[in-house]
Amino acid sequence: MAIKDKRSGIGSSLYQAGISMIRRKTKNRWERFWMRYAGLNAFGRIATRLAPWFAPPYYGRCYLAYLNTKGYFAPSAIVHHNRVHFGPNVFIGDRVIIYQDDKDEGSVEFGERVHIYGETFIQTGSGGSLKIGDNSHIHPRCQINAYKSNIYIGSEVQIAPNCAFYPYNHGIAPGKLIQEQPIESKGDIVIEDDTWLGFGVIVLDGVHIGKGAVVGAGSVVSRDIPDGAIAVGVPARVVKMRDNTLKK
Ligand SMILES: CC(C)(COP(=O)(O)OP(=O)(O)OC[C@H]1O[C@@H](n2cnc3c(N)ncnc32)[C@H](O)[C@@H]1OP(=O)(O)O)[C@@H](O)C(=O)NCCC(=O)NCCS
Repeated sequence: MAIKDKRSGIGSSLYQAGISMIRRKTKNRWERFWMRYAGLNAFGRIATRLAPWFAPPYYGRCYLAYLNTKGYFAPSAIVHHNRVHFGPNVFIGDRVIIYQDDKDEGSVEFGERVHIYGETFIQTGSGGSLKIGDNSHIHPRCQINAYKSNIYIGSEVQIAPNCAFYPYNHGIAPGKLIQEQPIESKGDIVIEDDTWLGFGVIVLDGVHIGKGAVVGAGSVVSRDIPDGAIAVGVPARVVKMRDNTLKK
Protein backbone atom coordinates (compact mmCIF):
# COMPACT_ATOMS: atom_id res chain seq x y z
CA MET A 1 0.00 0.00 0.00
CA ALA A 2 2.77 2.36 0.96
CA ILE A 3 4.55 1.66 -2.33
CA LYS A 4 1.34 2.29 -4.29
CA ASP A 5 0.95 5.68 -2.58
CA LYS A 6 4.50 6.62 -3.40
CA ARG A 7 3.85 5.96 -7.10
CA SER A 8 0.60 7.89 -7.34
CA GLY A 9 0.28 11.44 -8.71
CA ILE A 10 3.50 13.46 -8.89
CA GLY A 11 5.42 10.56 -7.41
CA SER A 12 4.35 8.30 -10.25
CA SER A 13 5.36 10.87 -12.91
CA LEU A 14 8.74 11.35 -11.27
CA TYR A 15 9.15 7.59 -11.09
CA GLN A 16 8.32 7.24 -14.82
CA ALA A 17 10.63 10.14 -15.73
CA GLY A 18 13.40 8.55 -13.69
CA ILE A 19 12.95 5.18 -15.35
CA SER A 20 12.98 6.67 -18.85
CA MET A 21 16.08 8.76 -18.00
CA ILE A 22 17.88 5.62 -16.80
CA ARG A 23 16.81 3.81 -20.00
CA ARG A 24 18.03 6.69 -22.16
CA LYS A 25 21.35 6.92 -20.34
CA THR A 26 21.87 3.15 -20.49
CA LYS A 27 21.11 3.17 -24.22
CA ASN A 28 23.52 6.09 -24.81
CA ARG A 29 26.27 4.45 -22.79
CA TRP A 30 25.74 1.13 -24.55
CA GLU A 31 25.89 2.72 -28.00
CA ARG A 32 28.89 4.89 -27.18
CA PHE A 33 30.73 1.95 -25.67
CA TRP A 34 30.26 -0.40 -28.63
CA MET A 35 30.65 2.27 -31.29
CA ARG A 36 34.08 3.07 -29.84
CA TYR A 37 35.22 -0.34 -31.13
CA ALA A 38 33.14 -0.39 -34.32
CA GLY A 39 35.01 -0.90 -37.57
CA LEU A 40 35.59 -3.29 -40.41
CA ASN A 41 37.85 -5.78 -38.61
CA ALA A 42 36.36 -8.88 -36.98
CA PHE A 43 35.94 -7.34 -33.52
CA GLY A 44 34.70 -4.09 -35.05
CA ARG A 45 32.00 -6.03 -36.87
CA ILE A 46 30.87 -7.65 -33.60
CA ALA A 47 30.82 -4.24 -31.90
CA THR A 48 28.72 -2.82 -34.75
CA ARG A 49 26.28 -5.67 -34.36
CA LEU A 50 25.85 -4.92 -30.66
CA ALA A 51 25.80 -1.11 -30.83
CA PRO A 52 22.33 -0.74 -32.45
CA TRP A 53 20.69 -3.20 -30.04
CA PHE A 54 18.27 -0.50 -28.81
CA ALA A 55 18.40 1.76 -31.90
CA PRO A 56 15.56 2.16 -34.38
CA PRO A 57 16.04 0.49 -37.78
CA TYR A 58 16.97 1.94 -41.17
CA TYR A 59 17.52 5.73 -41.41
CA GLY A 60 17.03 5.88 -37.65
CA ARG A 61 20.57 4.51 -37.18
CA CYS A 62 22.40 7.37 -38.92
CA TYR A 63 23.34 9.04 -35.65
CA LEU A 64 25.51 6.03 -34.78
CA ALA A 65 27.94 7.14 -37.51
CA TYR A 66 28.66 10.27 -35.47
CA LEU A 67 29.68 8.33 -32.36
CA ASN A 68 32.92 7.14 -33.95
CA THR A 69 35.02 8.84 -36.63
CA LYS A 70 35.36 5.42 -38.28
CA GLY A 71 31.61 5.66 -38.96
CA TYR A 72 28.89 3.03 -38.95
CA PHE A 73 28.86 -0.01 -41.25
CA ALA A 74 25.67 -2.06 -40.96
CA PRO A 75 26.51 -5.66 -40.06
CA SER A 76 24.94 -6.84 -43.32
CA ALA A 77 26.99 -4.40 -45.47
CA ILE A 78 29.78 -5.97 -47.54
CA VAL A 79 33.01 -4.18 -48.42
CA HIS A 80 34.98 -6.27 -50.89
CA HIS A 81 37.49 -3.72 -52.12
CA ASN A 82 41.25 -3.21 -51.84
CA ARG A 83 41.36 0.48 -52.61
CA VAL A 84 38.67 2.11 -50.57
CA HIS A 85 38.99 5.18 -48.40
CA PHE A 86 36.23 6.23 -46.02
CA GLY A 87 36.24 9.75 -44.62
CA PRO A 88 35.17 10.33 -41.02
CA ASN A 89 31.65 9.50 -39.82
CA VAL A 90 30.36 7.71 -42.92
CA PHE A 91 27.11 5.76 -42.67
CA ILE A 92 26.88 2.54 -44.67
CA GLY A 93 23.40 1.02 -44.47
CA ASP A 94 21.93 -2.47 -44.54
CA ARG A 95 23.01 -4.78 -47.34
CA VAL A 96 25.09 -2.15 -49.12
CA ILE A 97 27.76 -3.78 -51.30
CA ILE A 98 31.02 -2.05 -52.22
CA TYR A 99 32.68 -4.36 -54.69
CA GLN A 100 35.91 -4.34 -56.66
CA ASP A 101 35.55 -6.37 -59.81
CA ASP A 102 39.17 -6.47 -60.97
CA LYS A 103 41.71 -6.75 -58.18
CA ASP A 104 43.62 -3.46 -57.71
CA GLU A 105 41.58 -1.71 -60.39
CA GLY A 106 39.69 1.43 -59.52
CA SER A 107 39.31 3.14 -56.18
CA VAL A 108 36.44 4.28 -54.02
CA GLU A 109 36.79 7.44 -51.97
CA PHE A 110 34.16 8.88 -49.64
CA GLY A 111 34.43 12.27 -47.98
CA GLU A 112 33.21 12.89 -44.47
CA ARG A 113 29.63 12.23 -43.38
CA VAL A 114 28.71 10.44 -46.60
CA HIS A 115 25.58 8.32 -46.19
CA ILE A 116 25.00 5.27 -48.38
CA TYR A 117 21.59 3.81 -47.62
CA GLY A 118 20.35 0.23 -47.83
CA GLU A 119 20.88 -2.03 -50.79
CA THR A 120 22.91 0.41 -52.81
CA PHE A 121 25.48 -1.42 -54.96
CA ILE A 122 28.80 0.20 -55.76
CA GLN A 123 31.18 -1.51 -58.18
CA THR A 124 34.47 -0.47 -59.69
CA GLY A 125 36.25 -2.25 -62.50
CA SER A 126 38.93 -1.68 -65.05
CA GLY A 127 39.42 2.03 -65.72
CA GLY A 128 36.77 3.25 -63.27
CA SER A 129 36.89 4.92 -59.87
CA LEU A 130 34.30 6.58 -57.68
CA LYS A 131 34.67 9.69 -55.55
CA ILE A 132 31.91 11.12 -53.36
CA GLY A 133 32.33 14.49 -51.60
CA ASP A 134 31.45 15.48 -48.05
CA ASN A 135 27.94 15.17 -46.68
CA SER A 136 26.42 13.61 -49.80
CA HIS A 137 23.58 11.14 -49.37
CA ILE A 138 22.84 8.20 -51.66
CA HIS A 139 19.41 6.77 -50.89
CA PRO A 140 18.36 3.11 -51.07
CA ARG A 141 18.82 0.78 -54.03
CA CYS A 142 21.05 2.95 -56.16
CA GLN A 143 23.45 1.29 -58.61
CA ILE A 144 26.82 2.97 -59.09
CA ASN A 145 29.01 1.13 -61.60
CA ALA A 146 32.34 2.81 -62.32
CA TYR A 147 33.84 0.88 -65.24
CA LYS A 148 35.91 2.26 -68.09
CA SER A 149 35.41 5.87 -66.83
CA ASN A 150 35.06 7.51 -63.44
CA ILE A 151 32.13 8.78 -61.43
CA TYR A 152 32.58 11.97 -59.42
CA ILE A 153 29.79 13.01 -57.08
CA GLY A 154 30.36 16.34 -55.34
CA SER A 155 29.56 17.55 -51.83
CA GLU A 156 26.10 18.08 -50.31
CA VAL A 157 24.51 16.04 -53.13
CA GLN A 158 21.14 14.29 -52.65
CA ILE A 159 20.55 11.18 -54.74
CA ALA A 160 17.03 9.73 -54.31
CA PRO A 161 16.34 5.97 -54.29
CA ASN A 162 16.71 3.75 -57.37
CA CYS A 163 19.11 5.96 -59.31
CA ALA A 164 21.72 4.42 -61.60
CA PHE A 165 25.08 5.68 -62.87
CA TYR A 166 26.66 3.97 -65.87
CA PRO A 167 29.72 5.65 -67.44
CA TYR A 168 30.02 2.92 -70.11
CA ASN A 169 28.13 1.06 -72.80
CA HIS A 170 28.60 -2.34 -74.33
CA GLY A 171 29.98 -2.27 -77.86
CA ILE A 172 27.07 -2.84 -80.23
CA ALA A 173 28.72 -3.21 -83.65
CA PRO A 174 26.55 -5.56 -85.75
CA GLY A 175 27.65 -9.07 -86.69
CA LYS A 176 29.26 -9.91 -83.35
CA LEU A 177 27.89 -10.98 -80.00
CA ILE A 178 27.37 -7.91 -77.80
CA GLN A 179 28.79 -9.73 -74.80
CA GLU A 180 32.03 -10.34 -76.73
CA GLN A 181 32.52 -6.67 -77.60
CA PRO A 182 34.61 -4.39 -75.38
CA ILE A 183 32.84 -1.77 -73.32
CA GLU A 184 33.06 1.84 -74.52
CA SER A 185 32.70 5.19 -72.83
CA LYS A 186 32.15 8.82 -73.81
CA GLY A 187 33.83 9.84 -70.55
CA ASP A 188 33.38 10.40 -66.85
CA ILE A 189 30.13 11.17 -65.09
CA VAL A 190 30.51 14.37 -63.07
CA ILE A 191 27.84 15.51 -60.63
CA GLU A 192 28.66 18.85 -59.08
CA ASP A 193 28.00 20.05 -55.53
CA ASP A 194 24.52 20.72 -54.16
CA THR A 195 22.60 18.81 -56.85
CA TRP A 196 19.42 16.80 -56.27
CA LEU A 197 18.51 13.79 -58.40
CA GLY A 198 14.91 12.57 -57.97
CA PHE A 199 13.73 8.98 -57.71
CA GLY A 200 14.87 6.63 -60.45
CA VAL A 201 17.18 8.94 -62.39
CA ILE A 202 19.60 7.22 -64.79
CA VAL A 203 22.85 9.01 -65.65
CA LEU A 204 24.79 7.91 -68.73
CA ASP A 205 28.43 8.19 -69.78
CA GLY A 206 30.16 11.50 -70.39
CA VAL A 207 27.47 13.54 -68.63
CA HIS A 208 28.17 16.63 -66.49
CA ILE A 209 25.42 17.77 -64.12
CA GLY A 210 26.08 21.34 -63.03
CA LYS A 211 26.25 22.81 -59.56
CA GLY A 212 22.89 23.12 -57.81
CA ALA A 213 21.00 21.39 -60.65
CA VAL A 214 17.81 19.37 -60.07
CA VAL A 215 16.87 16.31 -62.12
CA GLY A 216 13.22 15.16 -62.03
CA ALA A 217 12.10 11.69 -61.02
CA GLY A 218 12.43 9.05 -63.72
CA SER A 219 14.67 11.10 -66.01
CA VAL A 220 17.45 9.69 -68.20
CA VAL A 221 20.35 12.13 -68.35
CA SER A 222 22.23 11.69 -71.61
CA ARG A 223 23.47 15.28 -72.09
CA ASP A 224 25.03 17.91 -69.84
CA ILE A 225 22.81 19.92 -67.52
CA PRO A 226 23.93 23.45 -66.65
CA ASP A 227 24.39 24.87 -63.14
CA GLY A 228 21.13 25.67 -61.37
CA ALA A 229 18.89 24.08 -64.02
CA ILE A 230 15.81 21.90 -63.44
CA ALA A 231 15.78 19.13 -66.04
CA VAL A 232 13.17 16.41 -66.50
CA GLY A 233 12.18 13.62 -68.84
CA VAL A 234 13.67 11.05 -71.18
CA PRO A 235 16.06 12.35 -72.35
CA ALA A 236 16.34 14.98 -69.60
CA ARG A 237 15.81 18.52 -70.90
CA VAL A 238 15.97 21.79 -69.02
CA VAL A 239 12.44 23.03 -68.24
CA LYS A 240 13.37 25.87 -65.91
CA MET A 241 16.18 27.42 -63.93
CA ARG A 242 15.96 27.50 -60.15
CA ASP A 243 16.19 31.30 -60.27
CA ASN A 244 13.50 31.43 -63.04
CA THR A 245 15.87 33.03 -65.56
CA LEU A 246 14.93 30.62 -68.37
CA LYS A 247 13.09 32.42 -71.20
CA LYS A 248 10.74 30.07 -73.13
C1 LIG B 1 11.82 18.06 -60.92
C2 LIG B 1 10.82 18.55 -59.89
C3 LIG B 1 11.54 18.93 -58.59
C4 LIG B 1 10.19 19.80 -60.51
O1 LIG B 1 9.27 20.32 -59.64
P1 LIG B 1 8.62 21.78 -60.00
O2 LIG B 1 9.66 22.83 -60.02
O3 LIG B 1 7.47 21.95 -59.09
O4 LIG B 1 8.19 21.59 -61.52
P2 LIG B 1 6.74 21.63 -62.16
O5 LIG B 1 5.82 20.70 -61.44
O6 LIG B 1 6.36 23.07 -62.33
O7 LIG B 1 7.03 20.99 -63.58
C5 LIG B 1 7.55 21.70 -64.67
C6 LIG B 1 7.25 20.87 -65.93
O8 LIG B 1 8.02 19.67 -65.89
C7 LIG B 1 7.16 18.52 -65.88
N1 LIG B 1 7.74 17.57 -64.93
C8 LIG B 1 8.00 17.77 -63.62
N2 LIG B 1 8.62 16.71 -63.10
C9 LIG B 1 8.75 15.82 -64.09
C10 LIG B 1 9.31 14.53 -64.17
N3 LIG B 1 9.87 13.97 -63.09
N4 LIG B 1 9.31 13.90 -65.35
C11 LIG B 1 8.77 14.47 -66.45
N5 LIG B 1 8.21 15.70 -66.44
C12 LIG B 1 8.20 16.36 -65.26
C13 LIG B 1 5.81 19.05 -65.41
O9 LIG B 1 4.76 18.23 -65.87
C14 LIG B 1 5.80 20.42 -66.02
O10 LIG B 1 5.52 20.31 -67.39
P3 LIG B 1 4.56 21.41 -68.13
O11 LIG B 1 5.27 22.72 -67.95
O12 LIG B 1 4.52 20.90 -69.52
O13 LIG B 1 3.28 21.34 -67.39
C15 LIG B 1 9.75 17.49 -59.54
O14 LIG B 1 8.81 17.39 -60.56
C16 LIG B 1 10.36 16.10 -59.33
O15 LIG B 1 10.51 15.27 -60.23
N6 LIG B 1 10.71 15.84 -58.05
C17 LIG B 1 11.38 14.62 -57.64
C18 LIG B 1 10.59 13.93 -56.52
C19 LIG B 1 11.39 12.80 -55.96
O16 LIG B 1 11.92 11.97 -56.67
N7 LIG B 1 11.54 12.78 -54.67
C20 LIG B 1 12.42 11.82 -54.01
C21 LIG B 1 12.82 12.38 -52.71
S1 LIG B 1 14.59 12.53 -52.52
